[in-house]
Amino acid sequence: MSDLRTILDRIDFTDDALVQKQLADQHSRVRERLAQIQNIVLGMSGKGGGGKSTVTANLGMALARTGLKVGILDADLNGPSIPHMLGLQDQNWRPNGQQVEPAIGPSGLRVASMGFFLDQDQPVRWDGPTHLSHVWLGMLESGTLREFLGDVHWGQLDVLLVDMPPGAAADKPPAILQFIPDAAGAVFVTTPSKVTVSVVRRSVAYANDLGLRILGLVENFADLFGESNAADDCLQKIPYDPDLARSLDTGEPLPANHPAAAMFDNLAAKLMETLR
Ligand SMILES: Nc1ncnc2c1ncn2[C@@H]1O[C@H](COP(=O)(O)OP(=O)(O)O)[C@@H](O)[C@H]1O
Ligand SMILES: [Mg+2]
Repeated sequence: MSDLRTILDRIDFTDDALVQKQLADQHSRVRERLAQIQNIVLGMSGKGGGGKSTVTANLGMALARTGLKVGILDADLNGPSIPHMLGLQDQNWRPNGQQVEPAIGPSGLRVASMGFFLDQDQPVRWDGPTHLSHVWLGMLESGTLREFLGDVHWGQLDVLLVDMPPGAAADKPPAILQFIPDAAGAVFVTTPSKVTVSVVRRSVAYANDLGLRILGLVENFADLFGESNAADDCLQKIPYDPDLARSLDTGEPLPANHPAAAMFDNLAAKLMETLR
């Protein structure tokens, strides 16, 4: 997947039967890849800026520290932040025959992100007449995710964490649900802000409607609003921590004995209990 155009170039749209066959082939490649992944966990929120990527990156490192084989799929196509947060911003795709090797982050985390093939400060631009049609944009988005899921050589994974774009499961089913097995679940990142809580509650209800398993909530910025609004199913509260903010900006992981890292260790343990 050197370039987005290849998604379209691979498909000959003049022949209906061929298009269907190619899509079916891609779907079966995705199924084969995903069969090697024990658990798929979506990091969701319904709101941006609440710490979804922060939680996903640090939860991934915490899981990997325990010796589990962990991948992070950065599915925020136009706001990829995982590479930067893990110090992988200078990495590029590493093609290997028909597949692509994920970048290797701290503790052996395997990472795939749109950030690896976008130029700095450039958005994904869907060329051609596609800007005219939302249907087309939706198709390109799901085509790109299918490529991610089908072409990245994740290998055997205990957990694949998916960093979802902001607002996913707010107004339309996330495109990724077409490809992942029913067994997947979601961790919702919220903040104590009443504004965020009400939006996240809606997303949780919507995820329930979609049949997505709710694994629990993480309350981020837990100390900033005076009171907690997290319900009993809160897996972990994470306060604002300047060292954590610095770690995400520099891409240098927190030392394993840092109190914030210990909170993510606790979250990782609780998540694995829930998945068992
Ligand atoms: N608990 C925290 N302590 C310090 N900084 C945080 C914390 N959670 C998030 N941040 C910072 O807040 C910003 C937004 O978080 P991010 O994870 O990118 O949100 P989202 O992915 O939900 O849009 C980032 O710059 C991140 O470094
Ligand atoms: Mg994010």
